[in-house]
Amino acid sequence: MSTTLDALSILTITRPDDWHLHLRDGPALRDTVADAARHFARAIVMPNLAPPVTTTAQAGVYRQRILTARPEGSDWQPLMVLYLTDNTPPDEIDRAVSSGFIHAVKYYPAGATTNSDSGVTDIKNAYGVLERMEKLGLPLLLHGEVTDQHIDIFDREAVFIERTLAPLCTQFPRLKIVLEHITTAQGAQFVASGGDNIAATITPQHLLYNRNDLLAGGIRPHNYCLPILKRSTHQQALIEAATGGSGKFFLGTDSAPHPQSKKESACGCAGCYSHHGAIELYAEVFDRANALDKLEGFASHFGPTFYGLPINEKKLTLRRSPWQLPATTQLGDDLMVPFYASETLQWAVVDGESNG
Ligand code: NCD
Ligand code: ZN
Repeated sequence: MSTTLDALSILTITRPDDWHLHLRDGPALRDTVADAARHFARAIVMPNLAPPVTTTAQAGVYRQRILTARPEGSDWQPLMVLYLTDNTPPDEIDRAVSSGFIHAVKYYPAGATTNSDSGVTDIKNAYGVLERMEKLGLPLLLHGEVTDQHIDIFDREAVFIERTLAPLCTQFPRLKIVLEHITTAQGAQFVASGGDNIAATITPQHLLYNRNDLLAGGIRPHNYCLPILKRSTHQQALIEAATGGSGKFFLGTDSAPHPQSKKESACGCAGCYSHHGAIELYAEVFDRANALDKLEGFASHFGPTFYGLPINEKKLTLRRSPWQLPATTQLGDDLMVPFYASETLQWAVVDGESNG
């Protein structure tokens, strides 16, 4: 364990990675990539563009646009993901694996969230692809919510686990699966009791907030994301999962930028942007849980171990030094209100030699 706690005011960890990130495209890329590359070494890049990134060739072109948007001198790496559709051919998995730059396939139930219209209508349509992924060891990333209109939005993750995930694990017992952005005690419990091939990512918003922060005393559109914030008992279960030291739970921000005008709307978009202060937001959670010694495993070790990638060599140092997050940030040609805007965080990243 290389975490060092100096009178609880300095914390040095292995440089972290983000295992779930939305960078978008076009003019936004320069801002999202600069933020993502500032303190992190790598990110799993979500493919829900419009149109989505469904082939290895498209992922290769998108990757080049991302690399071009990197700040000068940055060695931050985008890890690309394919968007699964009803029509993805199993041979696409062979191409993805031999590309060397694709590290996972993302399953969106059709209609579940932002740009998911081309998602899978019935997981059975993807069985041929999943069989190939199981054989080749390519992880499946799940947006774990059912989309049936008569299922209450707060129950959609739990119902997905029961109806889709449990049978999937039985059908493909060796398939590597990440249940992304878990939001419920049921999600944490299912992953904790599964095999080593089952893991989960957890976002800062689901650790710091519950549904009261979205709905009590006025509706707060900037706290609206999918899966939706749940009640505080679930928040507590997620904090315990993240800070408990299990290698099955690791960092995935689900940082998902939308312009201010698209969030503050009669039908606002889902997604919280957190890469203006991602590692600092997690440090806040781990500090409040008296578990700062567990931050490094969650942020920097468990993700690469699950994905079969090397752990980063460079370090990142944080200092206990309160700072206020900005009220707005730039997203290409638009303004955006980031997650936890104008709030104060206790931990700040120290710039300088230790950040390598
Ligand atoms: C994401 C987005 O905006 O792309 N939104 C969100 O609320 N998390 C999509 C997703 O991951 O569901
Ligand atoms: Zn996402």
